[in-house]
Formats: sequence, structure tokens, C-alpha cells
Amino acid sequence: MSVKITETVLRDAHQSLLATRMRTRDMLEVVEHLDQVGYFSLEMWGGATFDSCIRYLNEDPWQRLRDIKKKMDNTHAQMLLRGQNLVGYRHYSDDVVEKFVTKAYENGIDIFRVFDAVNDIRNMELSIKVAKGLGAHVQGTVCYTISPVHTVEKYVELAKQLEELECDSLCIKDMAGLLAPSEAASIIGAMKKEVSIPISLHCHCTSGMAPMSYMAACEAGVDILDTAISPLAWGTSQPPTETVVAALKNTPYDTGLDLGAFEEIVRYFKELKEKYRGILDPISEQIDTNVLIYQIPGGMLSNLVSQLKEQNALDKYDAVLDEMPRVRAELGYPPLVTPTSQIVGTQAVLNVLMGERYKVIPKEVKDYVRGLYGRSPAPISPEIIGKIIGDEEPIHCRPADLLKPEYEKRKKEAEELGIANSEEDILTYILYPAIAPKFLQGGMEEEALAVVAPKPASPQEYTIPTEFKVTVDDEVFDVKVEPTGGVSISESASTKPTAESVKGAVTSSMQGMVLSLKVKVEDTVKEGDIVAVIEAMKMENAVHSSHSGTVKEIFVAEGDTLAPGDLIMAIE
Ligand code: CO
Repeated sequence: MSVKITETVLRDAHQSLLATRMRTRDMLEVVEHLDQVGYFSLEMWGGATFDSCIRYLNEDPWQRLRDIKKKMDNTHAQMLLRGQNLVGYRHYSDDVVEKFVTKAYENGIDIFRVFDAVNDIRNMELSIKVAKGLGAHVQGTVCYTISPVHTVEKYVELAKQLEELECDSLCIKDMAGLLAPSEAASIIGAMKKEVSIPISLHCHCTSGMAPMSYMAACEAGVDILDTAISPLAWGTSQPPTETVVAALKNTPYDTGLDLGAFEEIVRYFKELKEKYRGILDPISEQIDTNVLIYQIPGGMLSNLVSQLKEQNALDKYDAVLDEMPRVRAELGYPPLVTPTSQIVGTQAVLNVLMGERYKVIPKEVKDYVRGLYGRSPAPISPEIIGKIIGDEEPIHCRPADLLKPEYEKRKKEAEELGIANSEEDILTYILYPAIAPKFLQGGMEEEALAVVAPKPASPQEYTIPTEFKVTVDDEVFDVKVEPTGGVSISESASTKPTAESVKGAVTSSMQGMVLSLKVKVEDTVKEGDIVAVIEAMKMENAVHSSHSGTVKEIFVAEGDTLAPGDLIMAIE
């Protein structure tokens, strides 16, 4: 039985190796070649690409979808959808999910690969139903991870539920590269006995096992394999397409693809990789067997290093690595994938940095324990629940059942901002309300270009230029560099009173940004009250007053950057 191939170069491969920065124009030049290969599908949208388009590239993700689709006549266009999270980081209301899936379909998506971070089918039901109703192919996905509750039986049960929801195919998603060949064989073998729809396997090479697991999967009856063209394969990306095609030649699993068809594509991406060399993370290109010990995806490890650097605590790296599996177990063994990887990772960092476990708990961790991300794979002990949310009762219903419709309300907001030019634009705004207005008004070229701006030529240049001419693909841009809030805060820090010189000082325990102030001068607060919220490590952390009293003075404003120990306010 011939095995089919899903090519990931336009989505997961560059998300894994190039920080999701590949530009649409670089995709458009090669799409027609990719379309000729005979792939089952081309993954080219969703995941982090939507965010990256508007945050870093100043590109409209919807336009990317339409432009690529126009050049695809033979191959299915595939996207990765995070169930009720769509391509964002929280649950959206049902009307938004319905609208987004509909628009994605209308703009060109043929195959929706739908997953949920904690494998809670309730978070996937609606997007599956809507996509099915439109006539799309839906690939119901289970996230693979290792834990006492993630048994072969559990995966088979999930697969059966997805088949019952009328998914057209299944996907086993091994985002961390943890799937061993024997496990691949057991899971796929068992699924094949219980479900009749095709099974696809999506592995990352992080630990180096993926090519072997692919072979074992073939022997167990897998139908589709995810691969990336070789220049953007290996490391935290997928196994190389040509290698897999060649390895399966003249076997019962022969893909039927012609190796010659890849020549032009390989040459193209080799050159392109050189162009993006500056953002290629050397760590993500390597095999990292640490994932087998800590069961942490590669991307999470590099994230962890930058979080610790930001907090000036790189020496705590080993301690955090040890803490991570403990937190994961206490939180009911969630698979580590967006957003649960950030939830577990950040809590582990905080537990180590604060010198006391669960002393500081981000809102996202509380929400997870409240059940707002869905059912945890294993139950969380009452003791941990009490530690994290006190007497509050976690929810047991489908999280989105608690969300009011929000499309019309947000649409109004977008109209007031003058950015509601299309339903697609309104969706962009709903998904990324903080960055979308600037993008949709077209005022972010400079930031987008900062990503590709060259570093000063030599260390001898002591006068750092503030204005650059930057050439991007033959277009010349004038770029002016100005200091941001972070710099001015540290400059003014010396003139501000310090925590030691102020009575009743409330200080920041970490590096972060003041998201909101919850009190004003003259307010009375009790010990333990939330007085401010700081965004650190991409999560919201409440600052509690250490004592009761009256707010005498507030030393920071919303948006200010704080270092550990910085004064926030005085409460006497
Ligand atoms: Co992936």
C-alpha cells in the first residue's frame, strides 16, 4: 500500500527552523514546482504563521493564503488549527470559530488538521463540524506525549472518537520528537484495528528517532507521512522528503514520487536558507537527546534559555529542567505544545526563581487549573488545585460554553478603529487585538524590517548609527531606530526612589512589563490584594500587596518595564 506525503516546508519546517519568518514572496516563487511533485498535501497555513505574518513580516496572512492557493492546481492546501484556539492563544467563542473556519475554507484551505493541546475532543468538535459542513477534509489529531495516562488504549479511544465525529483522516502529532519506533508501531497498529480512516504521522527530528519511527509506522500501516524538503529538514523540523521517498522506493510503501521532481525545489531552498541564515537558530538544527530525558520539545528549551537570560538567572537552567517534569505531573500530564508548553514552562521557571513553589502563579496557569483550557489528561490533586486557585471550583463543562458570542462586539470595535475592511480583517483583529490595529492601519514596516536589519559591520564602530537604508529583495527602505520604553526606564531608574528608601514598598519579583494597575493613590488595600498585573515571560502575573494599608504613591505606569526588585508602589 503506497504511502502519501504531506510537505511541510511552507509551514512547520520554517516555523521550526526559521522562527516562522519565511516571506510569502519566497513561497510564491516555488509553489508551482511543489504543486507538480504529487504530494498528498502541502501544509502552508496556520500554526504560528498567522501570528508571524502580522507581528513580524507586515504581511496579510489571508492574502498569503489566497496567493499561494492561486498557484496550486494539483495539491491539497492544508492548515494547522488549534481547535477552539484557532491560530491564537486562548479559546474563542463559537461564533468566532465558525466564522474563522468558514473564511479559511473560502480563502482556499482544503484540509483542516485540527488538534487540542490537552487532547480534549470537546475543544475540537465545533471546528471539525464547521469544516465538515463546508465540505472540507478534516484531519482529527491526537498529540503524542509520554506519561502514565497516555497509553496505547487512550490514543485508540481518542482516534475512535474522532472517527465518530466524521473526520476524514487522523493525525498523530509528535511535536517533541518523542515517539519511539516501537511506540509508533504499537499505536498505529492498534488504531488500524479499530478505525478505518487513513492515519497520518507527524514527527519532529528533535531526538533523531523520527526516520526510524516513520519506517516502523509504514510497517504498521500508516497512510500519510509528514516530511520537509531536505534543506529545511532535520533538527526540530521533519525528516527530509527526498530521503523518505528514496527509502521507501521498491517497498510496499513506495510513495510513487519521482526523486527527480525535487531537484529544482532543493536548489531553491538551499539558496533561500542562506538568505535566512541570520535567523536560523543553530540549536534547532541539532539533534537534542535531552528531550528524551526531560520530554520537553526543542523549541521549549531554547525558549527556556531566553526566559532565564531575561530574568538574569541562566545558572538556574538545570534546576528548572528538573522542576519541569514535576510541574507537568502535578498539572495532570498535559502534552507540551502551545499553549500548555508555555504554561508548564513558565510555572517551572517561577517555582525555581522565587525559591518557593507556586508562590507566584500566572493567570494562565490558574485558568488551566480552573479547567478553562479543557480537561487535564490526568486529574489534578485537590492539594495542587487548592494551592493554585484556593477554594474556587474548577469548571467541568466544555470551556467555550462559558464564552458569550463576541464577533459582533469586536466587529463594532474594529469599525470604530477604522480597520474593518473585510470579515478577514475583523478576524485578524479578534485574534490579535494588541497588534492587529497597527498592522491593519499599515504602520509597522520599521519593526518588521528590524528583523532583517544588518548588525553594525564591526565592533570598532562606536557611534551606533540610528538611521539605516535597508534593502529587502531589491526594495530600499529608510529605517530609523529609536530607543524604546525599556531604555528610558533604566535611565530614569537612578532618579527614582529605591525600595529601601521607601516605607511600605511593594516591589516586582521579576523582569516584566506593567500590564495594569489595580489600585490608585488613596485606595485602601488588604494584605494579599492584587495591586498590579505584570506581564513576564508572555504570561500575566498578579502582584499581591504584602501588607494592608493605604496606597501612598505609585511609581510606575502601565506599559513600564520593570527589573526584579523595582519599586511599584508604596502602601502604608
Ligand atoms: Co509540528
